[in-house]
Amino acid sequence: MKRIFSGVQPTGNLHLGNYLGAIRNWVRLQDEFDDCLFCVVDLHAITVWQEPKDLVANIREVAAAMMAAGIDPARNVIFNQSQVSAHAELAWIFNCVARLGWLDRMTQFKEKAGKDKERASVGLYAYPNLMAADILAYKGTHVPVGEDQKQHLELARDIAQKFNHDYGQEFFPVVEPLIFGTATRVMSLRDGWSKMSKSDPADNSRINMTDDADGIARKIKKAKTDSEPLPSEAPGLNGRPEASNLVGIYAALADTDMDGVLGEFGGQGFGAFKPALADLAVAKLSPVQDQMRRLIDDTTYVESVLRCGAEKANDIATPILREVQDLVGFLRP
Ligand code: AMP
Ligand code: TRP
Repeated sequence: MKRIFSGVQPTGNLHLGNYLGAIRNWVRLQDEFDDCLFCVVDLHAITVWQEPKDLVANIREVAAAMMAAGIDPARNVIFNQSQVSAHAELAWIFNCVARLGWLDRMTQFKEKAGKDKERASVGLYAYPNLMAADILAYKGTHVPVGEDQKQHLELARDIAQKFNHDYGQEFFPVVEPLIFGTATRVMSLRDGWSKMSKSDPADNSRINMTDDADGIARKIKKAKTDSEPLPSEAPGLNGRPEASNLVGIYAALADTDMDGVLGEFGGQGFGAFKPALADLAVAKLSPVQDQMRRLIDDTTYVESVLRCGAEKANDIATPILREVQDLVGFLRP
């Protein structure tokens, strides 16, 4: 059986990378797979400090964004992670399956912890084990994510395999990453070598899902570029990360590929390309943003979706967790 699981952290500043690299792909998958769980991963969020009142609002905001993008709460399970205790319980077991050496290799921990690793939370270090638990608590088989999560998913595969080996049963599936589309790694608008990120202190570096049309146009206009005209074929973008990023964003928004965009804009400068990109971005994002704003105001509705989602998620995870407890040898009197 195939089951999709994916998650987004409610850490504020939901951006175009989250939309193009993740959420928009989920909308497509709900038509191909009839068993999809989409999770607002609040347990992950607190691996770095979150102001409680902001966290609450951000959980609603991410849920609203999923639905505004087109994820149908009637056909899929939308919920927040902390409300299903199986995640934390299975994560503990995985803390005892995963090896320190495996976690030591995680590049995202190194990036997020920075130079002062002694001051990072233990949760930030163990985060990939929790991510494996998120997926495997449901025996999820396919996980749509952006490029940056590839290493974490490899770890989830290692955990599943070691668990199966240690406890002598093919219990957990070996998860398949689904990394697709032209925008698996949207880069910062200020620096083509670093990824667009919620935590970049420069707001100009990203297009937030809450930015209005003027804000989007201004950020695209100010985006860093070089002074060459666009090439007529994709290999001509090699060594031009900022140009390549903007063309990639255009391609993703227009549902075409890089060559499709360059066929139209090759030979033109950014003076012509940027306004076209701004118009396209506004046209594609504003319906989602309008719906997102409406949903953010309707807290009763959003909370009812999350509550019902948590019940459905619990119904799936509880029997799986019981079987895990039996395999591990926990007495269930
Ligand atoms: P996060 O913001 O870390 O919770 O990420 C949520 C989802 O968005 C994950 O599937 C990420 O891989 C994806 N994502 C985050 N940043 C980007 C980006 N700059 N480009 C493409 N996908 C991204
Ligand atoms: N770690 C992911 C991120 O930061 C979010 C996440 C948590 C996730 N659990 C997951 C993604 C399970 C896919 C599956 O983007």
